[in-house]
Amino acid sequence: MRIVVRQTCDEVDLAAAQEVVKVVMLKPGCVLGLSTGNTTIGLHESIVRLSRECGISFAGVTTFNVDEYVGVPEDHAASCRVRIFEQLLNNIDISKKNCHLPDGNAADLKLAAKQYEDLVEKTGGIDLQVLGIGPNGHIGFNEPGTPFGIRAHVADISTPSLTAKSDFYKKTGFLPNKALTLGIKNIMAAKKILLIAKGSGKADIMNKTVLGPVTTDVPASVLQLHPDLVIFLDTPAAAGLPPKSFSSMR
Ligand code: GLP
Repeated sequence: MRIVVRQTCDEVDLAAAQEVVKVVMLKPGCVLGLSTGNTTIGLHESIVRLSRECGISFAGVTTFNVDEYVGVPEDHAASCRVRIFEQLLNNIDISKKNCHLPDGNAADLKLAAKQYEDLVEKTGGIDLQVLGIGPNGHIGFNEPGTPFGIRAHVADISTPSLTAKSDFYKKTGFLPNKALTLGIKNIMAAKKILLIAKGSGKADIMNKTVLGPVTTDVPASVLQLHPDLVIFLDTPAAAGLPPKSFSSMR
């Protein structure tokens, strides 16, 4: 586990974006796992800027978003689809046919979940999975209590997670209760995982994630077992971690 701490959000976004661009430079045909949320907005902007400044092509890249709400219209501002295209995919030279999200409007959601993870496996698996983290430690929409061996599935969104995003849901006028998400087994199968967290509101959960026991009560704690995990934090989000736990602080 490598932990990179930067003073400000902008510096975290740039450092994390450099990690993503490095993977694309090393493997132009790589498969990226993406996450939406407040935390990754700045990361996506930095990836776009960096790719323009450095002339990095995403033409051979395939992307999979980790989750999508159930029942949200594909063109709705609340959908992960609209947000990931607006923030990132419309602003890089990636082929839209290589950009995938779970189908939250499928008639058979269980089948859609299975087909989604099969598509991930068919493309050779995820080279770099970008993750944010919910205040309760959820990753994707794997909420506390979710078994670590679970594959792609339909998840009930917990009340704390709905509360944490109540402003966003109010603004977009869409209140979800379920989401289609890659499971923890799918996430842990990624070759490399990049976890990003910012702000003092994530300090407590980052302490539990990094230093706490590996427990389904804190889904993100399972990331301690991943062989290639890098965590990017700003100083407030790292406040719960004693400096000695930083394996890389620049
Ligand atoms: C959402 C998403 C996660 C995201 C998390 C953190 O529930 N399903 O993929 O990482 O919440 O969101 P934010 O970055 O807005 O705190």
